Amino acid sequence: MKTAYALAGLPALALAFPGMMGVNSREEALQQLKETRMAEQAEKEKRQVLGGLLGSLTGTVGGVINDLTGAVGSVTEALNPDNKRPEPGYTFQAPGPNDSRGPCPGLNLLANYGYLPRNGHVNYGQVVEATARGFNMGLDLATVLAVFAILTDGDIPSQSWYLGTGPSNVGGLNRHDTVEADISPNREDYYLGCGNNHALSSRIFTQNVQFASQDPNKEFSLNAMGNQWAANGAFSVKNNPYLYLFPFPSIVSIAAYNFYPQFFSNGTYGAGGVANYESIASIIGAQFDEKTQQFEYVPERWPENWYRRATEYDAVQALTDGFTIIYPHNPIPMVFPQLANVQNLTPQDILCVIYEGITSITPLFLGGTVESGANAITSLVSLLDSAGLSNTTLGCPASAESQNGASLLYPNASQKGGPLNLPPTASDGNAGNNVYNKVYFTKAPTTPQCNNQASGVNP
Ligand code: HEM
Ligand SMILES: *[C@@H]1O[C@H](CO)[C@@H](O)[C@H](O)[C@H]1NC(C)=O
Ligand SMILES: *[C@@H]1O[C@H](CO)[C@@H](O)[C@H](O)[C@H]1NC(C)=O
Ligand SMILES: *[C@@H]1O[C@H](CO)[C@@H](O)[C@H](O)[C@H]1NC(C)=O
Ligand SMILES: *[C@@H]1O[C@H](CO)[C@@H](O)[C@H](O)[C@H]1NC(C)=O
Repeated sequence: MKTAYALAGLPALALAFPGMMGVNSREEALQQLKETRMAEQAEKEKRQVLGGLLGSLTGTVGGVINDLTGAVGSVTEALNPDNKRPEPGYTFQAPGPNDSRGPCPGLNLLANYGYLPRNGHVNYGQVVEATARGFNMGLDLATVLAVFAILTDGDIPSQSWYLGTGPSNVGGLNRHDTVEADISPNREDYYLGCGNNHALSSRIFTQNVQFASQDPNKEFSLNAMGNQWAANGAFSVKNNPYLYLFPFPSIVSIAAYNFYPQFFSNGTYGAGGVANYESIASIIGAQFDEKTQQFEYVPERWPENWYRRATEYDAVQALTDGFTIIYPHNPIPMVFPQLANVQNLTPQDILCVIYEGITSITPLFLGGTVESGANAITSLVSLLDSAGLSNTTLGCPASAESQNGASLLYPNASQKGGPLNLPPTASDGNAGNNVYNKVYFTKAPTTPQCNNQASGVNP
């Protein structure tokens, strides 16, 4: 059984190098892989039963939260005062009505403290520095996210983008199916949320809190977040006819589940830090209201006495956690030619695909910037090289993947539901920047919600 679990992690390796993974042959590896899948299925069914039980057992959400508050053991790592955030000189200030904020709690928070421009119009250099300083994000991970944000949501000549929506509601991270994707940890899908893909959803976070309360340590652990992915994925598959897992945005939304423990823990997750409710709820702006038993979306803020992780978290770690821990909780088929067969999956492969794809991508231009063309893209690709993402550093042979760029990362971008042909919504009134101090989505949107579920209600 032990081997089977190892196989569940990296089946591709087991098949390619059976000896290395403790099995004798490819056939044995395949057999064990099958057993693993069956064990996973059984595990999944068990979780569903548990989930149902939980709903009837725990009573109020408030009760679950009480259960979580202060429940996590204390940080066992020796915390270095240098890692305390915010540093002197960076103060919290709630964003004003004209400040751009969107689906990324990490970047929203950094702008709320002045680590990034408070108006939410950010550029590559600022983001690389701020994400390292605030959260210890590795240069390669920040670069690959930033480059895609610039290519699909931003302005190439200035290497900049808006955290929510851009001027006149064009571009910005709110733009659907580019970097922002369906099946997010705590946001609704673009179609079902009637364009609101960026506000904290009260009902999804309520579910997240319940998964954390099932965790043996009452943490937002990788496993708890894997259960969150499984539940959100099942919901979207069932209810969202425009669910389309474009490779790049899907990778981001899967990795975002591991970002919860890895970046938001107090201290270093896995090295004595804790992914406690106090840290997570504050950082993602979820404020519980006893009266309504709902979560109000408030500006993202570090809790008192919070320490960032002590070591960098980079692209390989992010993909490894995402694809060996989160994704297997519910391996929804992805339209990803190289990854369609899960047996071919290694983090290295994925990075390779991303790199190869981006070197020949046709940017999803927002209009008006088409002339920036090939030279501008080349300069963006050189950012990836300098961040260590080139074929040489990762040992990824240039010939390993096919070279069909944009269609590799955004296949059929103009089909309905794709980035160039958005899913239909009854209104675009929810496309703007985040509006805080409201409650969004008290109920699951099984059909598109263009009412006050999406536009928020005052608590
Ligand atoms: C470096 C540049 C970054 C870019 C361009 C970026 C962009 C985005 C985008 C577009 C989303 C929406 C994804 C989706 O729809 O699921 C997102 C979500 C997320 N990001 Fe970022 N991000 C960046 C850095 C960070 C950092 C530094 C952190 C943590 C410290 C972070 C944590 C998260 C989390 C946790 C989510 C999921 C939110 C939720 O649905 O609950 N990101 N980010
Ligand atoms: C973080 O850990 C330190 C050390 O255990 C503790 O003093 C502090 O209260 C914790 N902060 C949060 C928000 O959990
Ligand atoms: C926001 O922008 C609008 C339109 O430009 C302006 O009228 C308003 O005064 C601005 N509000 C703040 C708080 O800056
Ligand atoms: C990396 O890939 C590029 C493009 O295919 C190629 O020109 C270069 O020689 C490769 N570098 C190494 C060290 O293999
Ligand atoms: C893209 O669309 C074409 C025809 O419209 C279809 O044959 C093909 O299967 C689609 N590709 C993907 C990856 O969905």
